[in-house]
Amino acid sequence: MDKFLIRGGRSLRGKIEISGAKNSALPCLAAALLTPETVTLHNVPYVKDLITQRRLLEDLGATVLTPELRTHKITAKNIETFEAPYELVKTMRASVLALGPLLARFGQAKVSLPGGCAIGTRPIDLHLRAFEQLGAAVSLESGDVVARAPKGRLIGAEIAFEKVTVTGTENVMMAAALAKGKTIIRKAAQEPEIEDLAELLNKMGARIKGAGTSIIRIDGVEALGGAEHTIIPDRIETGTFIVAAAITGGELEIKSCDPGHIKAVIDKLREVGVEIEELNQNTLLVKCGAGGLRAKDVTTEPHPLFPTDMQAQYMALMTQAEGLSTVTETIFENRFMHASELIRLGANIQISGNKAVVQGKTRLTGAPILASDLRASASLVLAALCAQGETLIDRVYHIDRGYETIVKKLSSVGADIERITDNIAASAD
Ligand code: EPZ
Repeated sequence: MDKFLIRGGRSLRGKIEISGAKNSALPCLAAALLTPETVTLHNVPYVKDLITQRRLLEDLGATVLTPELRTHKITAKNIETFEAPYELVKTMRASVLALGPLLARFGQAKVSLPGGCAIGTRPIDLHLRAFEQLGAAVSLESGDVVARAPKGRLIGAEIAFEKVTVTGTENVMMAAALAKGKTIIRKAAQEPEIEDLAELLNKMGARIKGAGTSIIRIDGVEALGGAEHTIIPDRIETGTFIVAAAITGGELEIKSCDPGHIKAVIDKLREVGVEIEELNQNTLLVKCGAGGLRAKDVTTEPHPLFPTDMQAQYMALMTQAEGLSTVTETIFENRFMHASELIRLGANIQISGNKAVVQGKTRLTGAPILASDLRASASLVLAALCAQGETLIDRVYHIDRGYETIVKKLSSVGADIERITDNIAASAD
């Protein structure tokens, strides 16, 4: 397994380009299953999860051409199977996003029920209940979710989610796009990735209104066509690099981002003393405030509030802020695994239930540590960049799922980081 060797204590300075949003590209690739015509997607990030999603589409019978590394031309004309197998789903939960499109277009789908993952059990009961409300018959057969539209076509319905679910909203939006009649989704997720998917679907001929708000209205159509679309920038990668500038006391110009997508993160980081200037609508200039960092509490909530995907990175930053801060995680039940590794570097963190109390400012020193999930590994990289001495982070395959060429990007702004690859295969960086 690959490792990162980081020698910390250097301030990052320079320019960083933000890649396309992993969590928008994943549903957008799945949306191509809704039509036999070609869907062209630009700015698809070159990360492991998208390589997996592409493989899933090809396993189902779609053809995927990449005339350029980040452009995917998908044609799901000859879909031969409607099944997403366990060995694929277990590596990436987002494979469940194939359920809605397959069910909507072909009236059937079989997707292995994703197990839990490091951050929580992450059921998909809300997705399945919504499909039943759209007229599907859903059953669990030897670990697979088997869904069928009895009359061959889903019927529009009023769906009220008990909990905000991002991929649940995306799955239902894609399914309802081809259903007969109108669908209303209440308590819909409002993330920018939902809006991006709706924009693609509408380009394909869908009739969706309200994406980005808590009520989404969909008028089902008979068929969808091809389209061309550019994926939005990755707001979590953006937030991660803002923290990288702050935690190393450096100065970064973050390009090709969309500050409007992470307003809650920018507001919170300014509150703790990070200087963030919007040079234009796609560029941020970030530096650590002269007065150092101040500890401030944060609670994760669905968009537009502070995102759970920035919780681990924020916790790393709070180890360098003067004072006591409480980080409250309300979305996932086990998303503090980075805390014990940060403690190994010298952080002072007490966990109690869904709250982590960070006592800063503590001096971090390098040590061997272990990545456990995608955003936890980002948090460990940030802390290692700040720690004095050498840090060896193992199991960095987690970070490769969602951060494009992070070693190259960090090295380009002065970080002393290298990937130690166990096998001879060329690394992504
Ligand atoms: C999406 O996951 C993101 N993944 C996650 O990003 C992100 O952390 C999460 O939304 C929350 O913002 C993608 O978009 C591919 P949820 P998702 O359904 O859709 C519970 C990353 O780091 N729930 O919004 O799976 C669930 O257990 C990843 O890029 C049910 O109970 O999350 C959780 O507690 C990590 N039943 C809460 O709702 C369901 O049917 C929110 O989950 C669905 C969800």
